[in-house]
Amino acid sequence: KDLVLSGVQPSGNLTLGNYLGALKQWHSMQELYDCYYCIVDLHAITVRQNPKELHNSTLNALALCLALGIDPSKSTLFIQSHVKEHTELAWILNCYTQVGELNRMTQFKDKSAKNSDNINCGLYSYPVLMAADILLYQANQVPVGADQKQHLELSRNIAIRMNNLYGELFQVPNPFIPQKGAKVMSLQDPLRKMSKSDENKNNIIHILDEPKSIVKKIKKSVTDSDNPPNIFYDEQNKPGVSNLLTIFAGVTNKSVSDLEIEYQNKMYGQLKTDTADAVIAFLEPIQKEYLKVREDIEFLNNVMKEGSEKASSKAQHTVHKVKKALGFVV
Ligand code: AQP
Repeated sequence: KDLVLSGVQPSGNLTLGNYLGALKQWHSMQELYDCYYCIVDLHAITVRQNPKELHNSTLNALALCLALGIDPSKSTLFIQSHVKEHTELAWILNCYTQVGELNRMTQFKDKSAKNSDNINCGLYSYPVLMAADILLYQANQVPVGADQKQHLELSRNIAIRMNNLYGELFQVPNPFIPQKGAKVMSLQDPLRKMSKSDENKNNIIHILDEPKSIVKKIKKSVTDSDNPPNIFYDEQNKPGVSNLLTIFAGVTNKSVSDLEIEYQNKMYGQLKTDTADAVIAFLEPIQKEYLKVREDIEFLNNVMKEGSEKASSKAQHTVHKVKKALGFVV
């Protein structure tokens, strides 16, 4: 079985973007692959977090993964900081990564522009920590959205570089392009992606949002001023409408083209109401399950313990091999 590695940051509560772009695939992939899924809290602190909120968001994300159907008996589900080899390997990989390579990372440029008062070294070497996450488990399939492709390319280059120097230390990871991965855009600014840490909450639908708030946010979402209104998918010229179609299709078993036919000659208001209803209907059972799981701290503790034990044994093996190859006294 191919080994899949993927992570999500507890840098806020998860959004419909995180679900449609990643967690939906996590669920279906666990039937086919040996999956390692982690809540990447070490990555989250590259941007300043409130400690209480980070603690909560981490447990919330874990409970949400479980509510969404990630099954700990099929997948290895764990918290990144519980497996200390992530930081250990990241340091080593830092020493095999060129500053010039990191200077080219577009996410660093974007994130440092957004957080200009805190451009820390961790934010800069974020992609190296991500390489450590992947290479530790010898993952060969890494599901990535377009925004993460450059980071995966760096992981591949580091793996190839070290394999050339020291022999076969790492599996070189491949990007795994999920069949139905969707990019969800911000509701008010549909040219930017929906991000959980966005300060304008009208841009985001959280998986745990109440129905009333979902209706309000979708009603307020930006569409366009085409007259007469015209409902079809065109990311460039009709980003708002296209985003609603993506969301609608993502939470139902209708395709975007089904929806284009269904909504020919209808008004934007109708599309918004029906999208909101579909999102609410889809989220209702997930939210119910989430509340049950989130309260069961003993169960969550067990999942975390088992997950980190399983992940650690694989991670330790890789780190030992790497340290030995580099000449460390092990
Ligand atoms: N809007 C999105 N559409 C589709 N996929 C998305 N992902 C995130 N936003 C969207 C995917 O979710 C996975 C986990 O993301 P992450 O938490 O590791 O980091 P991120 O991409 O930086 O997510 P956010 O929500 O935008 O967080 P912040 O606000 O903290 O930066 C990834 O697979 C990602 O592609």
